[in-house]
Amino acid sequence: MKLNPWKQNPWFESVAVAQARAKKRLPQPVYGALLAGSERGQTIADNEAAFRELGFAPVVAGHQAERSMATRVMGQDISLPVIISPTGVQAVDPEGEVGVARAAASRGTLMGLSNFASKSVEDVVAAAPNTLFQMYWTGDRDVMIQRMLRAHAAGVVGLIATLDWSFSMGRDWGSPEIPEKVDLAAAIKLAPAVITKPSWLWRFVKSGHIPDLTAPNLAAAGEKTGPTFFGAYYEWMTTTPPTWEDVAWMREQWQQISGTPFMLKGVCRVDDARRSVDAGVDAISVSNHGGNNLDGTPATIRVLNPIANAVGDQIDVLMDGGVRRGSDVVKAVALGAKAVMIGRAYLWGMAANGEIGVGNVLDIMRSGIDSALLGLGLSSIHELSPDSILVPDDFIRALGVPAGQTV
Ligand SMILES: Cc1cc2nc3c(=O)[nH]c(=O)nc-3n(C[C@H](O)[C@H](O)[C@H](O)COP(=O)(O)O)c2cc1C
Repeated sequence: MKLNPWKQNPWFESVAVAQARAKKRLPQPVYGALLAGSERGQTIADNEAAFRELGFAPVVAGHQAERSMATRVMGQDISLPVIISPTGVQAVDPEGEVGVARAAASRGTLMGLSNFASKSVEDVVAAAPNTLFQMYWTGDRDVMIQRMLRAHAAGVVGLIATLDWSFSMGRDWGSPEIPEKVDLAAAIKLAPAVITKPSWLWRFVKSGHIPDLTAPNLAAAGEKTGPTFFGAYYEWMTTTPPTWEDVAWMREQWQQISGTPFMLKGVCRVDDARRSVDAGVDAISVSNHGGNNLDGTPATIRVLNPIANAVGDQIDVLMDGGVRRGSDVVKAVALGAKAVMIGRAYLWGMAANGEIGVGNVLDIMRSGIDSALLGLGLSSIHELSPDSILVPDDFIRALGVPAGQTV
């Protein structure tokens, strides 16, 4: 057999390489939908840029031969402090969330499954028993209870309520066109963008599926097919936004239905973190929806530490936004996160190499964490503290703290 010396090695060494491959491989509208971000992109840019402002002071000898990074979040043991954040656009690969779930399970971590996922919660739990189901505040209370019952019956191990969304329309670099349904008319319209990406198309042709852009986990009781993405979005937009009593209500319903942990995702302020504790949640993710919510919100890594100081001894504090390498994870844990959730990093990994690419991203995170611990002379992520890293003056933003008070 002759080996082709120019064939690209499907393994990639960094998330940046995965992103470059995703950009090359995906039709432009699909890549644009993954990149997302809102308005002028201030927050999406700061999420990544802020990590660059943090530094390390490595030791030259006395390194630790054994280093550990296992931890426990949402009542589950995980082998590294990185879990899969729920994302709704997975027309990136025919396997979609099922492939991501398998990769997460194989690396000993948790899978977060979006409300707007393209695969059913039953199929995803079959691939990864340690799945967290994510819900938005959408539909009436009976509908929400029905969705919780279904997720519980499927066997999920926790619920994520994501409430940070402000229905912002428009971004300065243009929004991709998303068809209502993938029918012949849509196929013809998208053909020029798709035809230039034969390897992406071939993966779908081989699998016998085209992305149908429906949300099966939002199907009405007794129905198999879910609404289209736009139908689901319309329901969400027209639902009265939740109050803190609603958050407590949702947590209580989940407690009664399942008894497994409940996370509130999208907390940026110290006062909101304290209200989350009062509402009875078990965990929060300090998150700005990856820069997709209110543009101008500071990077999550800037707002994390005051929140962790305020509530980290009562609930699990996670963070997400801008994590692209293991050393970013170490910085977040040093500033008080128990673990991080990743979004675009695994979407790019999946675009680059399917399920194997998602595993590749988790391996990059693991080796990067290990390498940072080695350089710092630490034997465990549990030894990390703000003193382990270099934090410039003025880096930290304490949001929702009255002037003159500190946390
Ligand atoms: C394309 C895309 C779709 C997303 N969909 C969801 C979603 O359905 N539910 C949710 O809670 N968060 C969603 N998020 C936010 C992620 O869970 C996470 O907060 C964010 O991606 C973290 O930032 P990062 O992408 O820089 O890692 C989405 C993010 C992206 C980029």
